[in-house]
Amino acid sequence: MTLNGLGERDLQLIIFGGKGGVGKTSSAIATSLELSEDFRTLLISTDPAHSLSDCLEQQIGFKVVEVSGISKLSAIEVVAEEALSKFKSEHHSELKKLLVTSTSFDNEDIDDMLTLSIPGIDEIMSFKTIIDFIEEGQFEKYVVDTAPTGHVLRLISSPKLLDAWIKVAAKMRWKYRYMVTSFAGSYKVDEVDTFLLNLKKTVKRIENILRDQTRCEFIPVCIPESMAISETSRLLADLGKSEIVARQIIINNVMTSDGCDFCERRKAGQLKYLQEINKNFSYLNRVEIPVFPEEIKGLDSLNQLRKQLFKDKK
Ligand SMILES: Nc1ncnc2c1ncn2[C@@H]1O[C@H](COP(=O)(O)OP(=O)(O)O)[C@@H](O)[C@H]1O
Ligand SMILES: [Mg+2]
Repeated sequence: MTLNGLGERDLQLIIFGGKGGVGKTSSAIATSLELSEDFRTLLISTDPAHSLSDCLEQQIGFKVVEVSGISKLSAIEVVAEEALSKFKSEHHSELKKLLVTSTSFDNEDIDDMLTLSIPGIDEIMSFKTIIDFIEEGQFEKYVVDTAPTGHVLRLISSPKLLDAWIKVAAKMRWKYRYMVTSFAGSYKVDEVDTFLLNLKKTVKRIENILRDQTRCEFIPVCIPESMAISETSRLLADLGKSEIVARQIIINNVMTSDGCDFCERRKAGQLKYLQEINKNFSYLNRVEIPVFPEEIKGLDSLNQLRKQLFKDKK
């Protein structure tokens, strides 16, 4: 089996997820290499331990750069803290006014509050960065390499967290609005209301694309090992709760053998896990990738992986 359907015109966002070390980064890059043949593609890493630079053997940072040697491929490593501090400094006055008008905190308390983090905001900022790129429309495909499972789940549940925060803020505002109306007779929508409304729209935009199967696809990466299988099952269940559907799965590091005793034994050891994968994930298109003799680093070996992932295509 090979990865399929990624060339569908409407499919813009392809997210790779799974346990640490299973091959997410390698698979995301190999997929972008394939897609960039036909589409302007942006490869995005949201893993705080970025490894695109290492794997591509080229410096990538928190700025879109063209991947050298690949004509339609660009890449970026999103730094959530930087995205957040940019957001905070851009919206400092609205955030401050929200607290000034809705709480009895003094200025010092408010400044302390503003340095605190809102739960889930880092992930939201990573996602907002992705959504902003999609809406700018410079690229046709956006391939996302994520950090291990826990982080990707936070990334996916981040709209809910932010939504809960907005609800509290809106409630505080509502009281303020009521007071102003009582005293002044009328209320004029101000920049804080607009800010909250725009934030709410961001949440909606993220949720809409994540749940839209024609625009977004999540590809789990797994290996034939017990812990990786359990983690993938949990990941798929959690994705389901967020109404995100996966259609296919990459099963990486599958042992092949030319008859040597060591390879035969490793291969035999993987058999029951492969059977378990076939049983548990029977509803997914399963793409098996063999163990390579060397680590996957640099364009040559990434292209080898790409051939494995998409071998019947060309
Ligand atoms: N099929 C494979 N054969 C050999 N090495 C692999 C294979 N897939 C991944 N690797 C290596 O395993 C390590 C982890 O892969 P990586 O793609 O960085 O995983 P993740 O992003 O899930 O942590 C890397 O050193 C990579 O080169
Ligand atoms: Mg990685």
